[in-house]
Amino acid sequence: MIRVLFVASECYPLVKTGGLGDVVAALPPALRRCGADVRLLLPGYPSVLDGVPDARPVWTVPDIPGGGAGILLFGTGPDGVPVYVLQAPWLYERPGNPYVGPGGDWADNPQRFAALSWAAAWLSGTDGGRRWRPDILHAHDWQTGLAPAYLALSGRANRPGTIMTIHNIAYQGLADPELLTTLHLPAESFDVEGVEFYGHIGFLKAGLYYADRITTVSPNYAREIQTLEGGWGLQGLLSGRRDDLSGIVNGVDAGIWNPMTDRHLAAPFGIESLDARRANKAALLAETGLDDRLDAPLFAVVSRLTELKGFDLLLAALPYLIDRGGQLVVLGTGDPGLEDGFRAAAARWPGRVAAQIKFDEALSHRIQAGADVVILPSRSEPCGLIQLYALAYGALPLVRRVGGLADTVKDGMTGFVFDHASADDLVGAIGRAADLWWTDPAEWRVRQVAGMAEDWSWSRSAADYMALYQALFPSV
Ligand code: ADP
Ligand code: GLC
Repeated sequence: MIRVLFVASECYPLVKTGGLGDVVAALPPALRRCGADVRLLLPGYPSVLDGVPDARPVWTVPDIPGGGAGILLFGTGPDGVPVYVLQAPWLYERPGNPYVGPGGDWADNPQRFAALSWAAAWLSGTDGGRRWRPDILHAHDWQTGLAPAYLALSGRANRPGTIMTIHNIAYQGLADPELLTTLHLPAESFDVEGVEFYGHIGFLKAGLYYADRITTVSPNYAREIQTLEGGWGLQGLLSGRRDDLSGIVNGVDAGIWNPMTDRHLAAPFGIESLDARRANKAALLAETGLDDRLDAPLFAVVSRLTELKGFDLLLAALPYLIDRGGQLVVLGTGDPGLEDGFRAAAARWPGRVAAQIKFDEALSHRIQAGADVVILPSRSEPCGLIQLYALAYGALPLVRRVGGLADTVKDGMTGFVFDHASADDLVGAIGRAADLWWTDPAEWRVRQVAGMAEDWSWSRSAADYMALYQALFPSV
């Protein structure tokens, strides 16, 4: 049985700020169903310590970056997946968001995530066979980019294969080169052929340089990140390694995102009982203070509100959406300017626009179940999960043709797709949605059913990851 260590900084429901948390929760159980022995390694944030109550100390990792010895606890994580938790209270036991403190990013984020990566490399090392040791170390995003680097730099012959998965290349984890020693990186690794990235230590760059294989979360994004526009400075490295790079689309965890069994909904429903969506829509309108207009198309946003996600375009297109008789509910947090923009829109169009500026998992489910259209106008989108949840819940996704959105939404069949990151193009797509809504309810339903009938389960993606693991480690 192939042994795989997943190292990541998020895992739903223990800690989640976005799709990374969903993926790290759902992919390991899917891989275990394929026969892999997957374990997780997570930082000991308060919510992780609380969420793994049976965690017991098993190992001490000496001299972690950031000082001191970390304790590795071992217990049972979500869905019964075995989990190691790196306990280092001075690094992780802080309230709130895992990356950001009151004044912005935590200043010691390099130490915090170097320590996580160091513990992953340590767990992957030998100690005479007493410990469980992975055949594959699978690292996710910049927070764990140093893990493949530490393993490669250790020079050990007998090391596991390493995979670096990019969930978002825009977040790279840059640190001051003065931290090289603190982060246990040898001076000679500070090189283009190493961890150096435009004068900084690049955590993601390091992972991409040293890992045996690279994956990202959709085939289209795998192509985009090899280009000047999409590579964020890493396109040279990535196109040079294109034979080691592949894109595997994310999936939907049907244990959590299934409208038939979703305990957050006013009325569960399925493909055979789509009419029950009306009750969810009515409940959602009431909950968010929108006018009780079941006949009007209800557009929705559930997202981090950032410019990369293109929500400035939606603010610009909003008068048109209202003009076409639409209503809008927004659930999101992020850039203060965008948060304010949606608050102002709610004040300008009371009963027509609702701005829920918060993170609320339960409401996100009710929105997917009650909204007619879910908008994601991203400038860049590695995969995107929101549109997959929309498909599963019978809301038609309205997205830009970019990254994983282009791979997952079929224009005119399961959703609405527009090309350019411009308010005009977005207006065009909103117009097409409104036209269909007002003129052809039967066709609307055909598209809902087409989306709901698609299979975006994790088992497909898990099979692709399994093939990659086997290729990298053919002896198991
Ligand atoms: P990203 O990881 O870039 O944020 P994804 O589409 O992959 O984008 O995943 C976003 C995840 O975060 C989804 O599970 C979505 O439902 C959730 N999410 C985003 N914002 C909120 C919010 N304000 N409240 C609840 N869930 C949210
Ligand atoms: C990132 C991306 C998102 C992707 C998620 C999970 O946060 O922004 O597109 O779905 O990771 O892979």
